[in-house]
Parts: sequence; C-alpha cells; structure tokens
Amino acid sequence: MIPTQALNNKNGSRIGFHIITFGCQMNVNDSLWLTKALAAQGYVEAPLADAALVCINTCSVREKPERKVKATVARIRSENTNPDLCIAILGCVAKQEGEACFHYEPCVRVVCSPDQIIQLPALLAQALLHPSEHYAALADTPDFRERPQHPKTFVPPVAYVNIMQGCDNFCTYCIVPFTRGRQRSRDPLAIYEECRHAIAQGASEIMLLGQNVNAYGLDAATKHHRTFADLVADIAHLPGLLRLRYTSPHPKDMTERDIRAFAELATLCPSLHLPMQSGSNSVLRRMNRGYDQKRYLSLVAALYAANPSIALSTDIIVGFPGETDADLAETLRVMEEARFCASYSFCYSDRKGTRASNYPDKIPPSVQHERLLAVQELQERLTEQYLTSRVGSQTTVLLERASKRGSGQRFEGRDPFGVRVHLLFDDTNDHTGEYHHVVITEKGKHCLFGTRLGIVPVSSRAPLLADHE
Ligand code: SAH
Ligand code: SF4
Ligand code: F3S
Repeated sequence: MIPTQALNNKNGSRIGFHIITFGCQMNVNDSLWLTKALAAQGYVEAPLADAALVCINTCSVREKPERKVKATVARIRSENTNPDLCIAILGCVAKQEGEACFHYEPCVRVVCSPDQIIQLPALLAQALLHPSEHYAALADTPDFRERPQHPKTFVPPVAYVNIMQGCDNFCTYCIVPFTRGRQRSRDPLAIYEECRHAIAQGASEIMLLGQNVNAYGLDAATKHHRTFADLVADIAHLPGLLRLRYTSPHPKDMTERDIRAFAELATLCPSLHLPMQSGSNSVLRRMNRGYDQKRYLSLVAALYAANPSIALSTDIIVGFPGETDADLAETLRVMEEARFCASYSFCYSDRKGTRASNYPDKIPPSVQHERLLAVQELQERLTEQYLTSRVGSQTTVLLERASKRGSGQRFEGRDPFGVRVHLLFDDTNDHTGEYHHVVITEKGKHCLFGTRLGIVPVSSRAPLLADHE
C-alpha cells in the first residue's frame, strides 16, 4: 500500500507522472505497462511541465545514448516547473550506466534496468517519501518475471505481447545482450492468458514481441516444450483473433514450419521484418550473424513461395568495420533480389563492450554516410515500386487512430501487409478498431491512401482479409 504522502502533492492534488520513451517496441510496451501500473497506484498522467515524476525509458542501441539521455534530462529541467521533480532513468542506458546516472543532475534519483521495471512503482513511491535518497534496481532476473496485469481504461485494437526477455546471440556490434541480459522465454500459459485477455477486452490484432522471437523456447530458462512455431499456431487459433504478427525473428532461427505458417495460418499476416544487416558474407561472418547471403536469399525465396504477396522488410547496417565498396554492392544486390518493401538502415556505431568495437579498419563517417545514402536511395526505389503495385488493389484496414495526414477527418491503420493506410471519413465518429474494405487509390512516400468500400461488420469478420495479388 502506498502512503498518501507519496501520492499527493503538498496542495493535496494527486502527484502527476510523465514518461518519455526511446527505442524499440519492447521499450514502448514497458512504458505502456508502467503507465498502467502508476495509474493503478493512484498517480495521474501529467504534462511534462508540471509532473513530479518523470521517467525516461532509454535505448542504447545506437549513437551516443548517454549524451541523448543527458540532453533529455536538461530539457526536462528547463521545461518542468515542479519544485519536487524526481527523474527516473530506466531501460537500456540505465542498465549500462547504472548509478553513474545519479551524477547527471541531483534530481535524477532513481535508476532501474529493464528486468527490474516491476519494482519501479515502489521505488518511485520511496523516492517521493525520501527526497534526499537515491534508489537503484539493476540486477538481471534468472527467468521471465510476470508483471501484474492492470485493468485498462483504453484498449487499443492492436495488443503487444512480450514472449521473451533478452538475447543470446551476441551479434558483434550489438549492445542488447548486455543491457537486456540472457534470453528467457516466457511461460506459454501466461502468454496465452495475456492474449485471451486482450482479445476479450476488444483487441483483434496481436503483435508478439522479443529480440529474437523464433528462438523462443530454446534458452536455458525454458521450462516447457513449446517451440516458436507451436506458440504461433496456438495463438493464431485463439477465438476472436483476426490478425497475428511478430517481431523480430532472426534469419538463422527461421524453421521450415515458421515459413509454412505463412501459407497455412489464416490469421498470420503476410508481412515479415527479417533483419539482414548486410548482404556480404565476410561482413555477416564478422557480425556473428550465423547465416550467409545464400541462406538469407533461400529464406526469402521460401517465404515468397509460401505466400507470393508477403511484404518483407529489413534492417541494414552500413560502414561496419572493414566493410568495402564490394561488400556494400553485395548488400544492394540482395536488397534488389529480396524486393524489400521497407528497410531501416543505420551507420555502424561502436558500442562500449561489444566485440566489434575492438575491430580494426573502422570506416570514416563520411564514407558511412555515402553508403547510407546509397542504401536509402535504392530502398526509396524499391518502396515506390511496391507501393505503386498496390494502387488499384483492394485490401482491408484495421483503423488504429485518427490521422494527422491530409485535411478532413482521417483515420489511419494497417493493411494485412503492415502498410499504413489513410482513409477519409465524412462524419466525426471515432472509427478506431473498425475494419474497412478499401480500394487503394494513391501512394505516399511510405504509406497508402484508400477509398472505403464498406465497413466489415463484427459478425462477418474473417481472419486475414487480404486481397492483394
Ligand atoms: N533483435 C533485433 C534488433 C535489435 S536492434 C534483431 O536482431 O533484428 C535494432 C537494429 O539496430 C538492428 O537490427 C541493427 O540493424 C541496428 N543496430 C544494432 N546495433 C547497432 C550498432 N552498433 N550500430 C548501428 N546499428 C545497430
Ligand atoms: Fe542484437 Fe543480434 Fe540479439 Fe538482435 S539478434 S538483439 S542484433 S544480438
Ligand atoms: Fe534499444 Fe534496448 Fe530496445 S538498446 S532497441 S531499448 S532492447
């Protein structure tokens, strides 16, 4: 039970909290949980300017993360006018920097690693009661810790469900295994329970989350016998579920069954983010990715064979130590052959403690940027080709929110291929959670615009709802 002094400001009003989130979907999901946990304790969400508690959920995957966190702390200090301001740093930078975060500013009084987020509501209450104290929770946990589920006030149509923590892969450039710890698969019964609960509350699409989802069940912490393919098949058949997705799988762990699922499971959406990182065998080897170009391309071919309209996207790192122009040419060649409809590309940056940070032959930033431009230019062309091929086709869109694009009353959502689609309405109703049959009329740079053909009534909703050829 939280003492009332830790819930109320001196003037008797409820203490406000504000969460700033950087990084991957896992951080977004952690922040969503924290929002619910703090609200359940009696705190209220507040604007940054007057919140007493400000949490920064940090990411350290790329480019100067500590500097970014320090800049965020400075911004909070300049915008926030609450005399009792307490800042908590959580997420991957907190894990990496630990108690050194306390030196950023006196008001930074709580640090908490991703594994310990379950402790955070109690730590924050203590920090409010004892304004001169500092609190740190940084240990890894040996297994996947279940978090108390809190009743939701708003249920989004897409539910994100964690199936694991951490990663065992140690790609040589990557900090994640150091910040999120070893892979620990979650108990499948807890996963099914969370999925069922989300569906009962109105979610119709589920996105399974993890750093290497298709290695689910293969780690030392696993106490059951479900593989990733089992898990996907089990969840795909949950009554009331219309769409299932997952991110991110690792190419080396993609099994025949994982591929076949795209042909066999009606609810599994025909879209896959399959991080490639590089198309060059020598770079892939030095990255410790566990596959080569041939294996990656054969996976891509098998996925297109299973479902010819599957939309593939990827992550690419350019300027990895020792990367040559010929290596980059390989990457560009594989991108063309794989026909990625989207990609996220990054300049390699050293992460303290990773193997690649000690590799020789670092690539100068100017060369990295040139290569990034080459990747992005090609991707723009591939994306345009893909989006152009979609104009005139029919599909189904699950609306997620009101859209800021264009004039009039617009809503945006995704089609089964994971592409964002914007629709215009001539009323002022909230269309969130509705499925609409649409014809695609126009393409944007990264999205599509459609005209509504009709709403899909709840009674006749069928899985998948994809018509694209
Ligand atoms: N677990 C996921 C992604 C983790 S991080 C996976 O394996 O796909 C997300 C992306 O950030 C990576 O796919 C990679 O492209 C990029 N990234 C990670 N470390 C990086 C580094 N040191 N420099 C540049 N990009 C990096
Ligand atoms: Fe990082 Fe590789 Fe694990 Fe992805 S699979 S989180 S890139 S170590
Ligand atoms: Fe960033 Fe940590 Fe996610 S480093 S990408 S927030 S796992």
